[in-house]
Amino acid sequence: MVILVTGGAGYIGSHTCLELLRAGHQVIVVDNLCNSSREAVNRVEKLAGKSIIFYQADVTDEAALAAIFAQHTNIDGIIHFAGLKAVGESVVKPQQYYYNNIVGTLVLSKMMAQFGIKNIVFSSSATVYGENEIPFVETMSLGVPTNPYGQTKLMSEQILKDMAVAHQEWSVVLLRYFNPVGAHESGQIGEAPQGIPNNLMPFISQVAAGRLEKLNIFGNDYPTPDGTCIRDYIHVCDLAEGHVRALEKLADKSGVHVYNLGTGQGTSVMQLLTAFERVNQLHVPYTIAPRRAGDIAAFYADASKAERELGWRAVRDIEAMCRDTWRWQTMNSHGYDQ
Ligand code: NAD
Ligand code: WQD
Repeated sequence: MVILVTGGAGYIGSHTCLELLRAGHQVIVVDNLCNSSREAVNRVEKLAGKSIIFYQADVTDEAALAAIFAQHTNIDGIIHFAGLKAVGESVVKPQQYYYNNIVGTLVLSKMMAQFGIKNIVFSSSATVYGENEIPFVETMSLGVPTNPYGQTKLMSEQILKDMAVAHQEWSVVLLRYFNPVGAHESGQIGEAPQGIPNNLMPFISQVAAGRLEKLNIFGNDYPTPDGTCIRDYIHVCDLAEGHVRALEKLADKSGVHVYNLGTGQGTSVMQLLTAFERVNQLHVPYTIAPRRAGDIAAFYADASKAERELGWRAVRDIEAMCRDTWRWQTMNSHGYDQ
């Protein structure tokens, strides 16, 4: 298939592009590089030994997108990763988040209708469940996201669901990711946050590298066995494989298809930290800090639907996630900007 990947230079997008190329698909990337580097795409091409057609363009720019779609009349489907994703920043810059993430989804929907593209896979998030019973199951009623970022995921899901009603031949796949971590085992591609990382794993890794002084553990008085929050960390390569599987299984199967992509296993902040130290044989200084606003004590996926229907499940464990994160960190101490 010919797949147009928005946000394909980003963290999850780059790993998915590699997996798509490996599976024999052709890849066209559209990315404005607002949170990524062209070098990521170069490295994916080298790892796969295949080339990618790359456009530096903004998915909210309708004219630019229309020109790309007009140029490539053989696109079979879209994977839509492009979006802003920092929860805290979205509270400070709601207009920017709503505009970028919602208009991006609207413009792509318009392009699909205009150019007769029937397949889209959308990067959603476990954040759409809000505070809910665990494990999170696809059939649950969705919660109320506590920040604009989460709202953009909920709204984008709704836009695509409504589009699928209006265009009954469309296949809309909503993939709800849990906590993606890790990097490709080559150490060539990985997560390259700009500035101080917001997420736990890149923060741990930068403390281990001596770029940050210590980890702040946000709260150790949650109702969990060790008092720290529990999440479902999933290796980014498993996640990437999940996208390819979803696309291959569901292309041209009309309707809306929703899947959790997680491991189904909960790991606490303290467990992740100690696993990282043990696997990589190093010490990560930490301190207990106050709870972070908006954090939920524990959530993890019921990942059985993806296994049952797509034949996909996450196979890489916490040790692999820690090892691969550290390999990427040590081989690329400043991300792609060496
Ligand atoms: P990322 O920032 O590394 O990748 C997003 C990519 O989209 C970047 O390359 C960025 O330059 C590009 N982009 C952003 N706005 C754009 C625009 N208007 N036009 C063109 N390109 C644009 O983030 P990621 O972690 O790879 O996340 C990919 C997707 O998955 C995002 O939609 C994110 O919300 C979603 N998601 C991420 C996580 C996570 O924890 N990483 C969890 C759940 C969902
Ligand atoms: C994990 C745990 C923190 C940093 C976020 C988004 C979610 C999804 C994935 C996009 C929490 C603790 C963290 C630190 C810490 N993204 N922590 N010290 O919050 O589960 O999910 O990313 O869709 O929508 O909300 O991930 O990695 O930020 O935090 O103690 O310096 O680590 O309190 O318990 P989170 P995270």
